[in-house]
Amino acid sequence: MIGTYIMAIINKITMQKIKTAILISGRGSNMRALVEAAKNQDYPAEIVLVISNKETAQGLEFARQNGIKTAIVNHKNFATRQDFDQAMAKIIDENNCQIICLAGFMRLLSEWFVDKYRNRMINIHPSLLPDFKGDKAVADALNAGVKQSGCTVHFVTEEMDAGEIIKQSVVEVLQDDTVETLAARILKQEHIIYPESLALICNKIFQ
Ligand code: GRF
Repeated sequence: MIGTYIMAIINKITMQKIKTAILISGRGSNMRALVEAAKNQDYPAEIVLVISNKETAQGLEFARQNGIKTAIVNHKNFATRQDFDQAMAKIIDENNCQIICLAGFMRLLSEWFVDKYRNRMINIHPSLLPDFKGDKAVADALNAGVKQSGCTVHFVTEEMDAGEIIKQSVVEVLQDDTVETLAARILKQEHIIYPESLALICNKIFQ
């Protein structure tokens, strides 16, 4: 907490952007949206690092093309979840990242990692939490017959998809929606509220 406070003062004095790491496992379209938003001179965060647990994650190429440092930390190379998390934390800390954005990162995190980055780690989820937690959120919403779904940006806590909500966007469910069509419309909203949420917490916590 004191560390965060001191960092906030330093950032304010030096007008530095908040160094941010993004964790991905695949497509990386949310990562892309964050990177594009951070190109704006007035945006309070700077994306300095993208970590993937998968070598084949499509998002990695975009990050590289945009001059962002990338790292692959393959979870299969570690005996325990915490060993894997510690390897990621080492890279995150070496690059002085103050905020972590999970963007389609498909690994559960250890309590140790969640606690280390408490109030500094956020996630995007394709439902209106607390409804439809888990990795089948769009299908579950569709099967439940809800009229509205959407997406949520929230802080990461030990319980999956349960931390304090930062922003949500509502998406109408259409009668002929499939998982693909609904997910695509939700994704468009994700790309709007994720950059907005990152800016919000940078301004709130660190400025
Ligand atoms: C998004 O739907 C996000 O809400 C969920 O995983 C998906 C990641 O997509 N957590 P992308 O990799 O950002 O394109």
